[in-house]
This record gives sequence, structure tokens and C-alpha cells, in this order.
Amino acid sequence: MQASSVLKRFTLGVIAMSQLFGVLPPATAQAQPGDKIVVAHRGASGYLPEHSLPAKAMAYAMGADYIEQDVVMTRDDQLIVIHDITLDRTTDVAQRFPGRAREDGKHYAVDFTLDEILSLRVTEGFTVEDGQKRQLYPERFPMETSIFRVHTLAQEIELVQGLNRSTGRNVGIYPEIKSPAFHLAEGKDLGRAVIKVLKDYGYTRKSDRVFVQTFEFDELKRLHDEILPEVGIRLNLVQLLDGGDENAWMQTQAGVAEIARYADGLGPEKSMIVDRHSPAGSPRISALVGYAHANGLQVHPYTFRLDPGQLPDYVDSFEQMLEIFYFQAGVDGVFTDFPDRAVNFLRSRSGAL
Ligand code: G3P
Ligand code: CA
Repeated sequence: MQASSVLKRFTLGVIAMSQLFGVLPPATAQAQPGDKIVVAHRGASGYLPEHSLPAKAMAYAMGADYIEQDVVMTRDDQLIVIHDITLDRTTDVAQRFPGRAREDGKHYAVDFTLDEILSLRVTEGFTVEDGQKRQLYPERFPMETSIFRVHTLAQEIELVQGLNRSTGRNVGIYPEIKSPAFHLAEGKDLGRAVIKVLKDYGYTRKSDRVFVQTFEFDELKRLHDEILPEVGIRLNLVQLLDGGDENAWMQTQAGVAEIARYADGLGPEKSMIVDRHSPAGSPRISALVGYAHANGLQVHPYTFRLDPGQLPDYVDSFEQMLEIFYFQAGVDGVFTDFPDRAVNFLRSRSGAL
């Protein structure tokens, strides 16, 4: 990379961070307590293997407002719910399909048919070190036990809509278009396929309980300008923000205003809202929520976890962290692996418990 390019990216990052944590006033809350939502991140993934249907049913039963689906496409153009574009971290693909990895040693979902993927066993996430599998969150559901499978986006929507019918609730869905540029390079229009399934299942208006999320700004624009108009529906769109230098502009006041031309919400990594190095008891809250609310955007940061080592040093408890984000920073919702804890926190805060 050229030195001038490095300097430009660094400068943009510094501008973004100084605007967020220093120069500008902290964010103010926009939504009322009753408006705040809980998004079950990959289901109740703190308790059951992520993106398994049991994890989704558990999240539903725990009272989540929305349940998240990360969506990836198979070789035969089917939509599956899985976080990674590769199958290695959460399935037994390496044992089941030797010789099918790419040069990087990974097994890509786009290289497998739906039938092949449905034959895999899903497990808690793991890495392989010195030939040994190591569970990423050792205190969670035991790796390689019981029986879990991959499922399609349609099957998950049918689960949520079926439960909505049988319980009388109206829980929403929160699909993420995973790595859209990668899929397009593979000849697969993931974004268009996801929108078609949503329309087929009756999600057609902004008042419907669905947020469509993506990290890629080009895809957000394509959804807003091309795909949704062509399909003839309007849905809520969320721009996800990661910590990449090339995306630092998204955290600036002007950047948020630009995103608001296309989106209805922001999904930032949570340290963009509260400085992870804040002193204990004194959270340094950025201006990002204020920028978003001033532009009519909701804010749903990720990911709230309570596994060992996951709580920031500036809080003593998960609930203290929720209090800071929901009621000091003023976010409208959070993505969490432990939806019961956030649901109970909000109910307790509103006097319902
Ligand atoms: O989509 C919100 C959050 O899930 C983003 O992070 O990597 O878990 O998809 P990731
Ligand atoms: Ca996601």
C-alpha cells in the first residue's frame, strides 16, 4: 500500500475517533424505554450451538424481539443460515468431505450443494491447534455432542412465523447478507436472493418485523437503489460497522448522514459507542448514537456476551453494561448471545419484573 494511502486512512481514523470520543458532545437517548429491543445474536448462541434451530427456538422462548440469521449461498443457489462463508468452524465438513478444501485449506459453502451441507453435523465453534480441536467458548454447550444441523433461511422463517402463530407474538427476523462481494465474484447474487425469499414470506413493508443488515456499503446502496425497487417492496436496512480503517468514515458525522440516505439503522461494534478503555464507572460515550438519531437511524450495537473475558473492564456486570448502552448511550437495541439476560434487564428496568 502507498504511504499516502496509509496516511489518508490513518487520518480518517483519527478524525473519526476524535469526533467520537473527544470534541463533540455525548449522544442523547432518542427511543423511549418501551421501544428498546433485544436481538438474539445467532439465536440463543450462548446456550446452544449458534444458528441451530434449537438455538432459535430457545431465543424465541426467552422473549427476544428479533432473531438474527447470517445468510450464505450454496453451490446450487440455496440460502443457508450460517455465520461463516466457510463450513470449518461449526461443522464436521473436514472429516466428511476430504479433498474438497480450497488452497487456503477451508471448505467454502459455495462449493457444496444443499444436500451435502444438510448432511453435516453442526457443533459449538472450534479451532484446530496442533491437530486438536479446541472449543472457542469452553463454558458453552459441549462441542460435538447431541445432534444439530444446518437449515435454510426459509426453514428458519417458517419456524419464527410458526411460533408467531402458535404464541400470538410477533417476533421479527434480522437477516445479514454475508460477504456479498465475495458471492458476486462467485457468480451468486446473495442480496437479491435473500430479498426474494423475504418477499415470498410476506415481508414487504417497513412496518414488517424485519431488518436486513450488511457490512458492505456498496451492497446497502444496491439493496436500496436497485433490488428493493425492482422487487417492489420496502424494508428496513441496517449498515453494519466494523473496526476497519477503510470504514472509519462511517463513524463520522458526515459519514452517518451519507449512510442515512440508504439505511434505517446502524449496527456498530459496541466499542464504537463506549470506549473499551473507559475508566471503571466512567464510560466514555461517543457521539455516534447522537449522529445516528439526528439522521433518523436506529442503533443496534453488537455483540453483548458474558463469557469469561468478554465483559469490558469499565463494568462489573453484564447488566451494568446494558444500563450504560441502553440508558446512558441511548441505543435502541443490542445484539446478544444471551437474550434472556437482556430481556430480563429491560423488563426489570421498566418495572415489569
Ligand atoms: O450482524 C451483527 C453482528 O452479528 C455482526 O457481527 O460477525 O457476528 O455477524 P457478526
Ligand atoms: Ca451477523
